[in-house]
Parts: sequence; structure tokens; C-alpha cells
Amino acid sequence: MSGISFKGVTKRFGGRDGEVLAIDRVDLEIADKEFVAICGPSGCGKTTLMRMAAGLDFPSEGTVAVGGKAVRGPGPDRAVVFQQFALLPWKTVKENIGFGLKCRGVPAAEREREVMRYVELMGLTGHENAYPHQLSGGMQQRVAIARSSVLQPDVLLMDEPFGALDAQTRVVMQEELIHLARRNPRTVLFITHSVEEAVYLADRVVVMSRRPGRIQETIDIGATRRAENWEAQAIEDVMDRDSFIHFRTRIWKLLRHRDEAAAAAQRPARRA
Ligand SMILES: Nc1ncnc2c1ncn2[C@@H]1O[C@H](COP(=O)(O)OP(=O)(O)OP(=O)(O)O)[C@@H](O)[C@H]1O
Ligand SMILES: [Mg+2]
Repeated sequence: MSGISFKGVTKRFGGRDGEVLAIDRVDLEIADKEFVAICGPSGCGKTTLMRMAAGLDFPSEGTVAVGGKAVRGPGPDRAVVFQQFALLPWKTVKENIGFGLKCRGVPAAEREREVMRYVELMGLTGHENAYPHQLSGGMQQRVAIARSSVLQPDVLLMDEPFGALDAQTRVVMQEELIHLARRNPRTVLFITHSVEEAVYLADRVVVMSRRPGRIQETIDIGATRRAENWEAQAIEDVMDRDSFIHFRTRIWKLLRHRDEAAAAAQRPARRA
């Protein structure tokens, strides 16, 4: 069981100009094998939340736990995919994918088998001996996803993993991620600026407010996606549905309202 639990999480950063309150009392429970997406304006603390789940950063107050255990650092139960693919440029596709297995001391024959399985799964057949600079951005990102998935982590933490991709590649990657998640269900925390992507992929979408980051609302999509079997359909077919449009509009409104309220608060009051 590998859910993620944020309880009363507050994060402050000390800086030259004093303290920044980045995250303010966030409570979020992600169930084992649930897919949760986080949307919110730039700087609202999404990456910070993810880094705390990864064990790369720690709350100022409150607790972050994975699988019921407080997070004290990075661990093999969690894999992180960053927006920047961070592949090793001097290693081939195969070596990049197998790197974590090698670090774990998995024997060469078994490593080869597992790596080739993911090469195939991610549509990289024929490119296994290429170097990252010989690949397109989308292919590099598939290598990055294969590299973290091959380790079979219980928890996948993804920070805008498709942000740098063109629209077509992005759609292909979204569908590949859905297929991968269906074959190998695991807990996913997925950060994205794309409302459509969040609605298409997630069981629940968490909308955060502008800094200090708080959870504004959580939108449940899982029941609808299962009832309408979105997983078996392409995103462009799902996007036309009333149910999809309903969720998308609701999230957009949440994101917009906050911005308008903040802008209004900042405008000087008009003199009578
Ligand atoms: N190491 C740090 N030191 C100081 N301030 C930081 C640090 N990391 C993040 N912050 C601040 O915390 C806030 C949240 O940052 P974070 O990177 O989590 O935002 P985000 O929601 O991921 O934004 P984006 O959508 O642009 O990626 C920002 O105001 C940022 O400036
Ligand atoms: Mg970020």
C-alpha cells in the first residue's frame, strides 16, 4: 500500500528579502494506485509539494508520508520524472533505461530483459543504441519515463513531464501513460499546467490557489472516467463529451476566479 499523505503541510523558504510562505497548510490524501493531478498558477508550490513527496525537500510544519511512513529522503519506492528529462548524455537509450537497475545490482541478463521490455513498451525499438542528442524531445521523454518505470516504483511523481513537447507528441505520450498505468497500476502524482491533460489522465484533480499555495478544490473524475470508459478512447474523442467539458470548465473557472480576485485586491481602491 503506497498512498501519499500530506497533513497540515506548510513550507517556508528563507531568502534575502525574508521568508516566503510557499505552501500553507495543505491536507491531501492520495490513495494507493490513485492518479492525482495538480493544477495551479505558476509559483503556487506544485513542485515544492512534489519534492517533499520525493524526499528532496521537507515541510516546515506538518508531515508527508508515503505508504504510511514519514518521508525522510528519496527511496526506491518512488520515482521522479522532471520536466527536464535529465538523461545521461554519454549513455545510450538502453544504458539510460538500465541505469537504475545497474545501480541496484540487477544482473546483466535480467537487466537486458527488463530494459528491452520497456524499450518495446515505450515504442523505442530500433533506437536502443542511440544517444539522447540523436532523439527528438518526445523520444527523450519516453526514455525518461521508461527509466523510472523499469524500477517498478510504487509511486510515480511527475512534474510537468510533457510540458516541453509539441501538441501531437504530447497526446501520444498521454495515451502511452494511460496504457502504462493500466498495465501497471501505481500511485501517480502528476503536475500539469494543462487542464485538459489533468482531466483526461487523473482520477482526481487538485486545484491550487496562487501563493501561498493552498488547495482550492478537489475535483473527482474517476467515477465518470470509469463509467464512460475514457481509457479506451483517444483524448480528442473524450474532449467532446459533455462530462469532459463540464470538468474542464469548472477547473478553468476555479483558476480564473482566483486570479481575478487577486487582481482586484491589488487594484487601488477608487476614490469616491
Ligand atoms: N529553494 C527555494 N528557495 C526559495 N524559494 C523557493 C525555493 N523553491 C521554491 N521557492 C518559492 O516557492 C514558491 C513555490 O515554488 P514552486 O516551484 O513549488 O512553484 P510551482 O507551482 O511549481 O510553479 P511553476 O508552475 O512555475 O513550476 C515560489 O514562490 C518559489 O519562488
Ligand atoms: Mg514547478
